[in-house]
Amino acid sequence: MEKCNHDIIIVGAGLAGLRAAVAAAEVGNKLDIAVFSKHHPLRSHSVCAQGGTAAVMHEKDSFDLHAFDTVKGADYLADQDAVEFFVRRAPKEIVLTEHWGCPWSRTPDGKMNQRPFGGHTQPRACFAADMTGFHEMHAIYGKATTYSNIKFYDEWFVTSLIVENNTAIGLTAIEMTTGKLHAFTAKAIVMATGGHERIYEFTTFSHTTTGDGMAIAYRAGVPLEDMEFVQFHPTGLIPSGVLITEGARGEGGYLINANGERFMKRYAPERMELAPRDVISRAEQTEILEGRGLQGPYGPYIALNLTHLGEEKINERLPLIRDVAIKLGGVDPVKEPIPIRPAAHYSMGGIRINVKTETPIAGLYAAGECSCISVHGANRLGTNSTADCLVFGVVAGEEAARRALSTSLREVSKEKLLAEENRIAEILNREGSERISVIRDQMRRIMNEKVWIYRRGDQLESALKEIRELRKRFKDIKIEDKGKSFNTGFFSALQLDFMLELAEVTVASAIPRTESRGAHSRLDYPKRDDQNWLKHTLAYCTKDGPRLEYIPVTVTKWPPVARKY
Ligand code: FUM
Repeated sequence: MEKCNHDIIIVGAGLAGLRAAVAAAEVGNKLDIAVFSKHHPLRSHSVCAQGGTAAVMHEKDSFDLHAFDTVKGADYLADQDAVEFFVRRAPKEIVLTEHWGCPWSRTPDGKMNQRPFGGHTQPRACFAADMTGFHEMHAIYGKATTYSNIKFYDEWFVTSLIVENNTAIGLTAIEMTTGKLHAFTAKAIVMATGGHERIYEFTTFSHTTTGDGMAIAYRAGVPLEDMEFVQFHPTGLIPSGVLITEGARGEGGYLINANGERFMKRYAPERMELAPRDVISRAEQTEILEGRGLQGPYGPYIALNLTHLGEEKINERLPLIRDVAIKLGGVDPVKEPIPIRPAAHYSMGGIRINVKTETPIAGLYAAGECSCISVHGANRLGTNSTADCLVFGVVAGEEAARRALSTSLREVSKEKLLAEENRIAEILNREGSERISVIRDQMRRIMNEKVWIYRRGDQLESALKEIRELRKRFKDIKIEDKGKSFNTGFFSALQLDFMLELAEVTVASAIPRTESRGAHSRLDYPKRDDQNWLKHTLAYCTKDGPRLEYIPVTVTKWPPVARKY
């Protein structure tokens, strides 16, 4: 195994990772920064972010309003000190990304345009048509490439962290072109690898979002926080699950059932289609379960109507989703409603960090969707995610830089490297009877059927049993291709291993939470229970599965009250 050193290593080249790299590079041009990604940075899932980035940018809005909307949207599980910090930092990121080339949409008089989004009481989503993430990514990647001290390792697959004496001192990664495992040492490491929604069958997420960083940090000893809270986006395109942005409803689109009824009036009479996602997803699911869904070749669905917006507005504000609906859904939203249903979209949980993005392991930081601070609590508001990636990407980059300037590299022990080499070789050499794709499909079906929008204790218990069974079967997989270069079958196996681990944590964290809060909705415990459950779940990795602990929620200004929309 070859060894190499950097001051800072960032794992993941989406919005949070790239923003961290730029922030670290700005701290000092002597810092040697490496960014690892299993694909080209511009193929990161962040480019799929559509509707916008939340920030207080006009005089009727305020930090307190943004913070309160976020806390209420989070069903009071958010840590309010983190939320207050977050909302104050977001506007600066909009201005900076504009300076770096992000073409934010403008009003006719040249001001920053902002569209309404679910759960936000002000139009707060800065947007670049419906390709916000795509444009943000291009702007920040362009900026990152101007620093000669940022080195990109594209198509490198990180397999593990090297931790000694509770300090992250390096990592191992496979160069995908050669299949060779390398060791890297660093003074600071930032995980920015995104979510794990590919554990579900119907999801808005790219095939690459397999939760690698979450699983790697968990195995290295960092707890995963609040993993039971998975967001379901109300408008996943049928049949692929590709996102149809909430911006479509922000622009005036509405939802109808088989009776042609705008059913949201029964669930959120004030906010209607601009209620938070947990509320709308539950409403859609209820309509479907009670037989009011439309019928199609892929099962019951809900219709998103945009036809009244007109072709000109759709082309100006929502060109991507028109294209996507035509190409992947077979419908032109100018002429007919789009068939949609809720899709797994976001992980509110993730690697436990504090407001400085520090994990409990010294030298290890995390930012973006793979982390949990917690700003989003039990339910994230739309457009707070890209803002979170930018704000906490900066914090992670700066904190990592500060550490790198004040510590020295540590030597990695040979035994650790050998152990990882053996682990990887053992998986590659498996010659069992199980197929990776079969186990993966079964995991996704279990998650879709038993760990979906509405949950029940008996179903969660059964899901946990079945996921554990799949983990056993995974040991008996066959890797057909033993080749070295771009062995996609082998990388699928490594990703499945991560996903099975995370599916287990998600279900194990959901079982004991005997209440309904935000996206965790229990049919057997339909009420929120602040007395017993106003607390965060921490899942620690043990050889017998996750061990759970709980920590309090930080409340600064907004004690929990009933949540109505
Ligand atoms: O609907 C959307 O455009 C998604 C935005 C988000 O998840 O923040």
